[in-house]
Amino acid sequence: MDNVMQIMEARHSVRQYTDKKIDGEVLGLLKAEIDQINRTTGVDFQLILDEPGAFSGFLPRYGKFQGVSNYVGLIAPKSPNCEEKVGFLGERLVLKAQQMGLNTCWVGLSYSRRKLKLRIPKNEKLYCVLALGYGSTQGIRHKSRKIDDLTDAAQPRPEWFLEGMKAAMLAPTAVNQQHFKVSLTDDGRVRIVSTGGFYSKMDLGIVKYQFEQGAGKDFPGFTAG
Ligand SMILES: Cc1cc2nc3c(=O)[nH]c(=O)nc-3n(C[C@H](O)[C@H](O)[C@H](O)COP(=O)(O)O)c2cc1C
Repeated sequence: MDNVMQIMEARHSVRQYTDKKIDGEVLGLLKAEIDQINRTTGVDFQLILDEPGAFSGFLPRYGKFQGVSNYVGLIAPKSPNCEEKVGFLGERLVLKAQQMGLNTCWVGLSYSRRKLKLRIPKNEKLYCVLALGYGSTQGIRHKSRKIDDLTDAAQPRPEWFLEGMKAAMLAPTAVNQQHFKVSLTDDGRVRIVSTGGFYSKMDLGIVKYQFEQGAGKDFPGFTAG
């Protein structure tokens, strides 16, 4: 499964995991991807394996998690657009994990913060957590808003733009809110803005990453640093 659209189509939030460990080649590739992201962008993503504590016991009831023993702490130095940057880079990691046969779920709330095994330096902040592992299910496709609720681009829309929109609509967003709007200028520039809500800056980074992957090209300003 190497085509990026197939990977995005196959990705759904998975909240129940088997006890199969992440090891061998998959672990090597996962660590290499995290190292590369950290080295080239200045974030401080941390992979924690075989530590179920933060996801067991009584937890806020947004999502029903089971068997989560691996997670990535999405940590970064505080800066003006770091939430968007963390969203963008976190989604890069999500799609890489999916490509390697792992499942994931972005988690803003459903963990015990006190039990996380992360080292968060003073000038840095934990923005979100990614649960990951081998799912007991592959999840299900989320309901999406209609394309015309999410873009005001004039017709006819170029093929690359439609592929970008398809990818953006497949993106995970907090509580599946899809609070974003995509516009297209006559000279082919794309702008994606948040229309507000809970975790909307992180969502914006996630959606921008997926749009770029779907459209098959980079857009200036999307990487958020
Ligand atoms: C920033 C962010 C935070 C999220 N936090 C949680 C969470 O705390 N608990 C949970 O069960 N799901 C959480 N989710 C997962 C969303 O509910 C999920 O992505 C959305 O419903 C779309 O479904 P899909 O990922 O299967 O496409 C979060 C997603 C994002 C992007």
